[in-house]
Amino acid sequence: MQKMSVSDARQASAVGKQVTLQGWVRTRRDSKGGFSFIELNDGSCQGNVQILADGKLPNYESDIKKLTVGSSVSIVGNVVASPAKGQATEVQATEVVVLGGADPETYPLQKKGHTFEFLRTIAHLRPRTNTFGAIARVRNCVSNSIHQFFQEQGFLYVHTPIITASDCEGAGELFKVTTLPLEKIPLTPNPSLRGGEGSQIDYSKDFFGKPAFLTVSGQLQGEIFACSLGKVYTFGPTFRAENSNTPRHLAEFWMIEPEMAFYDLDDNMNLAEAFIKRIVGDALNKCGEDMQFFHDRIDKTLLPRLEGIFKNDFLRLPYSEAVEILEKAGQTWEFPVGWGKDLQSEHERYLTEKHFGKPVILFNYPRTLKPFYMRVNDDEKTVRAMDVLVPGVGEIIGGSQREERLEMLELRMKEQGLPPEHYWWYLDLRRYGTVPHAGFGLGLERVLLMLTGMANIRDVNPFPRTPGNAEF
Ligand code: 4AD
Ligand code: MG
Repeated sequence: MQKMSVSDARQASAVGKQVTLQGWVRTRRDSKGGFSFIELNDGSCQGNVQILADGKLPNYESDIKKLTVGSSVSIVGNVVASPAKGQATEVQATEVVVLGGADPETYPLQKKGHTFEFLRTIAHLRPRTNTFGAIARVRNCVSNSIHQFFQEQGFLYVHTPIITASDCEGAGELFKVTTLPLEKIPLTPNPSLRGGEGSQIDYSKDFFGKPAFLTVSGQLQGEIFACSLGKVYTFGPTFRAENSNTPRHLAEFWMIEPEMAFYDLDDNMNLAEAFIKRIVGDALNKCGEDMQFFHDRIDKTLLPRLEGIFKNDFLRLPYSEAVEILEKAGQTWEFPVGWGKDLQSEHERYLTEKHFGKPVILFNYPRTLKPFYMRVNDDEKTVRAMDVLVPGVGEIIGGSQREERLEMLELRMKEQGLPPEHYWWYLDLRRYGTVPHAGFGLGLERVLLMLTGMANIRDVNPFPRTPGNAEF
């Protein structure tokens, strides 16, 4: 017997086929005529397929009439054209085997309409709901688009390490990786303290013989490969121990980081814009049913906004001009605005949502606000940074042209209190055959917020890690 997905069984082309369908019961309705309708879902698509189970089936009274929401079943039947509205097909069952029941007294998804907050506490069951099934499918679609986009353009997919000794962003938001016993940490005299009275952790006894961390970004290692192989990208998990309980931050998130030799900031912006448009276009084309669901049920302005992102040019604006706009905006800000101050989410969203109503690429930020690796401009005050801001989310991409001049890079490291000798291999890339190069990082969960209209990043990562939360 041919196994078929619910998605395929819903197509008119399936009519006439005898199939096996396997999935979970969404609803069961018993008709007075002595038969039952079962709505079956297997996660292959948003919609269910309707199964007609006749009262003459041998286990009708014993099993089928007792089927509860959430039970798993294996069904053999014939696909026929459906007389009902809104569905091309239905399946006339010749056999219904119950694989696993679900006690209606305790099954948490027995009823619909749970809050997203509640569903976070049952992350092991929430993929069975319409919303979380749709998010999983769109996340898959985006991941596929990302690889296709880069592979079509000759980028090499490189794997950068998850355990690292360096802090790429220099922000100190690192999770430590250690096998030292926490209850008895080995200590060694601290030579910098008088008389050796102080002591410090003896990392020579640790697994790697020195402090090690979970990576915040694969960029530095990405640069190694870009400066050998041209155009590369990484796509993997990154970790930040920032204690920010916001709807836009996770402690573990996935980042896509392309890095390109011989690219300047303009090339970088062009790539970022084309990249986002490709992701949006593919989601609209390939996930039509799920995207319509998000539009209808999550955010009624979603589809026109995404079509706008796909069709229109992104606006490109220097940081200095953005600050002028914000100063003249006549808004009361929670955080102050002024040249040299970091832009907060409220400012970014004002620019992209209210003022321009489209994606904005801000560039040339003050050097004091950005990490050591960004190329210093001739004005010596700003660096070739770029942040891509989109309506509904704010920042989804951070990137820059990289500082390729050895002396300037060393100066920038010292400026930010980073020991250049610690980054000797990174500096070697500037010592031997240095090239202008650029890259950026796109947060996968941020892009999913944009695509789905979901309001909280905890709902677009399957198993969100945030301060105090790592259950599943
Ligand atoms: O702007 P960020 O910190 O840039 C970097 O890490 C660079 N090394 C990237 C590069 O140039 N290769 O982070 C990049 C993006 C942000 O724009 C945001 O989308 C996402 O990563 N991001 C987060 N997403 C979820 N939770 C967090 N805590 C995030 N921090 C950054
Ligand atoms: Mg950033």
